[in-house]
Amino acid sequence: MSASGLAQAQRKMTEGEVHPTAIDVFSRFYGLLESGETGVIPESDVSPLTDVPHLADLDVPDDVARDALAVTAVIKLNGGLGTSMGMDRAKSLLRVRDDRTFLDVIAGQVLAARAATGARLPLVLMNSFRTRDDSLAALAAYPDLAVDGLPLDFVQNREPKLRADDLTPVEWPADPDLEWCPPGHGDLYTALHASGVLQALLDAGFRYATVSNSDNLGAAPDAQIAGWFARSGAPFAAEVARRTPADRKGGHLVVRTADGRIVLRESAQTLPEDAAAAGDIDRHAYFNTNNLWLDLRALSDELARTGGVLDLPLIRNEKTVDPSDKTSPKVVQIESAMGAAIEVFDGAAVLEVDRSRFLPVKTTNDLLVLRSDVYLLADDSRLTAQVEAPFVDLDEDHYKTIAAFDERVPATPSLVDASSLRVRGDWTFGSGVVVTGDAVLDDPGEPSRVPDGAKLGPDGIV
Ligand code: UTP
Repeated sequence: MSASGLAQAQRKMTEGEVHPTAIDVFSRFYGLLESGETGVIPESDVSPLTDVPHLADLDVPDDVARDALAVTAVIKLNGGLGTSMGMDRAKSLLRVRDDRTFLDVIAGQVLAARAATGARLPLVLMNSFRTRDDSLAALAAYPDLAVDGLPLDFVQNREPKLRADDLTPVEWPADPDLEWCPPGHGDLYTALHASGVLQALLDAGFRYATVSNSDNLGAAPDAQIAGWFARSGAPFAAEVARRTPADRKGGHLVVRTADGRIVLRESAQTLPEDAAAAGDIDRHAYFNTNNLWLDLRALSDELARTGGVLDLPLIRNEKTVDPSDKTSPKVVQIESAMGAAIEVFDGAAVLEVDRSRFLPVKTTNDLLVLRSDVYLLADDSRLTAQVEAPFVDLDEDHYKTIAAFDERVPATPSLVDASSLRVRGDWTFGSGVVVTGDAVLDDPGEPSRVPDGAKLGPDGIV
């Protein structure tokens, strides 16, 4: 009899020199996958998260803030491949403001915060095997970035993609690299530990980490929050933001009645009969921005207690083995989410922040707004919105991938006077285009051009 899917996957990971703890974590998730675990969280088992302090109301003394930031490291999640935008490398290498990439802006924010506060603030990327080389090459432009002999990155683990039909590791001789995937950003904890970076940070005198997605330029290092977190004594904290009608379908934070712990409930974990309660943004008012604060000592203790295997919920992600070829075999990728660890820590805290700390780029719609004059990039590399960001909806057939988008929008139009922009069909933007009000471009039925200097409004090109 052939070995079970799990045994085959474990052998492949061992031969691929994956860290033993990462194999243990994978094996636990594999068990959950096989048992059909859904992780559903019924509304009757939870109560709403309330009494959340707001960043604007904090009154942390300057010395407390400074002392906390002095022992804080900045960790950026940089292991994802931006597949939703047709990418197969780090999203952070995209140009976002003039010639500067996300990584340039992140480096600028860290260097500016160091200059302003005197904190050492090491920057550490969590890369995956696919994002490492070119991300480190990009950071080489900043020779002052590395501090105290700490590495500029650590590499997250990798795991086999599993055939959707029998959960055995997929084989893809055409490109064996594609047989592997990163295990989602929940791997942060395993990878920090397995890479030795957690211990290296503790040894260098760092107590806290501020962790965020590299595609969220809103999450600049913040001394007030560092001071609040240190003073709270909490082992773990999440920056949360208020849900708007657009977030109705998304995940949110709830309090588990059984033990009083704060829990992330994703939409896939909601029962159909609870859909209305889960979508009630007045009842469940907060979502997780994925800006997290870790007490590195508490994390190290928890990992030691659990043998490095945190009890995180499973995310079953279905893709094709070659993401660019939808006819290639279907695979399941075992993943977990970093923010879900909030339920692992007794006494975890939350802090409400404004949307200015949450500027994720998931789609080319987001990228267009961020590249535009809606935002100003200050000398300290912080981005500030000049106006409320317009709603942008570009035609998926012509702008979904970054290659298609860059070809059609080589010069970013002005959006500062726009409330919304909706584009249907195949339009290429000239330079100096100005969008105003609720602008619409209808499908012309053939490739067309918005002339240089044109104005776009509710009636199309003016
Ligand atoms: P996203 O959920 O946007 O994923 O990641 P992504 O991989 O960048 O994009 P898609 O889904 O393939 O289109 C949120 C953050 O988590 C990081 C990403 O780099 C991004 O900063 N991430 C994601 C990791 O570091 N590792 C992972 O395994 C997954």
